[in-house]
Amino acid sequence: MRRGPRAARPALALAVVLLLCCGAAVPPSWPRSLGREAAAFRESLNRHRYLNSFPRENATAFYGINQFSYLFPEDFRAIYLRSKPSRFPRHPPEVQMSITNVSLPLRFDWRDKHVVTQVRNQQMCGGCWAFSVVGAVESVCAIHGAPLKDLSVQQVIDCSYNNYGCQGGSPLSALSWLNKTHMQLVTDSEYPFKAHNGLCRYFSSSQQGVSIKGYSAHDFSDQEDEMAKALLTFGPLVVIVDAVSWQDYLGGIIQHHCSRGEPNHAVLITGFDKTGSTPYWIVRNSWGSSWGVNGYAHVKMGANMCGIADSVSAVFV
Ligand SMILES: *[C@@H]1O[C@H](CO)[C@@H](O)[C@H](O)[C@H]1NC(C)=O
Ligand SMILES: *[C@@H]1O[C@H](CO)[C@@H](O)[C@H](O)[C@H]1NC(C)=O
Ligand SMILES: *[C@@H]1O[C@H](CO)[C@@H](O)[C@H](O)[C@H]1NC(C)=O
Repeated sequence: MRRGPRAARPALALAVVLLLCCGAAVPPSWPRSLGREAAAFRESLNRHRYLNSFPRENATAFYGINQFSYLFPEDFRAIYLRSKPSRFPRHPPEVQMSITNVSLPLRFDWRDKHVVTQVRNQQMCGGCWAFSVVGAVESVCAIHGAPLKDLSVQQVIDCSYNNYGCQGGSPLSALSWLNKTHMQLVTDSEYPFKAHNGLCRYFSSSQQGVSIKGYSAHDFSDQEDEMAKALLTFGPLVVIVDAVSWQDYLGGIIQHHCSRGEPNHAVLITGFDKTGSTPYWIVRNSWGSSWGVNGYAHVKMGANMCGIADSVSAVFV
């Protein structure tokens, strides 16, 4: 029997309640109905028209149909935007390692140094907080001379007891947990991603893994050049943004439609580009490589766009 949008709604509401309260694994398929998807798609088309109606000056972002167009914004938020905000100290706090006063190049991207792993796909798991942190650890290890390896995001999702696995978490709690427990992160092939919560697997102490020695947390609002120096000094930076409008992003530089009101999504900045008239951050996402610009977003620099400079962390290994 075909269920209309009216019939589907209670099922959806129930699923959201389960996700929030019970810590149950995300159901294998989000309750779907053709009617609801068609309605969400129509709404997406209207939204794209609105988002693209602004002056198309200087490489501004464009929006359109992608893998999220069949979701209503509230469903998109409930599934994908599950990073919890944390209060960050304003830079400069008592940073363990100081930021080098380098002169900034016009363009810099850690990908050019071959120290950034491939973009991953969190699927229907709200684990962005773990993807961003593990991405930073991978890169910082490689910057310090270790071979570049995919480390286990699932291990962080399952074992970081101060977070909620695929139901959400905060990068800062994950970093604090990694720093306190000296947890040895194993490789992704040893502890593969399953896109749902599992029991924490422990490894014998002879198992080679990667642990962190420290981390720092900053509020870099109005100090994005200082933040760029931190990127050069420490490696890719974990940030929390308001990614509501990223549901429809296809490419270009995000410079409108992105408030800093409600940080809800953790991502990893790998570089910046100031060669054009609009400088931008190069931001690695965890929604697969078909999203955005090969899995990345470009976000205007110097305007705290999407709140990108409010909650910034670096990892030390
Ligand atoms: C767009 O770029 C041109 C030069 O590249 C510049 O003259 C102009 O002011 C820019 N416009 C805006 C709105 O930034
Ligand atoms: C950083 O270096 C520039 C010159 O390269 C200098 O003008 C500036 O004062 C320095 N800033 C700090 C905080 O030392
Ligand atoms: C990380 O742990 C070390 C001890 O291993 C401690 O000295 C340091 O303060 C911790 N860093 C943070 C940011 O808590």
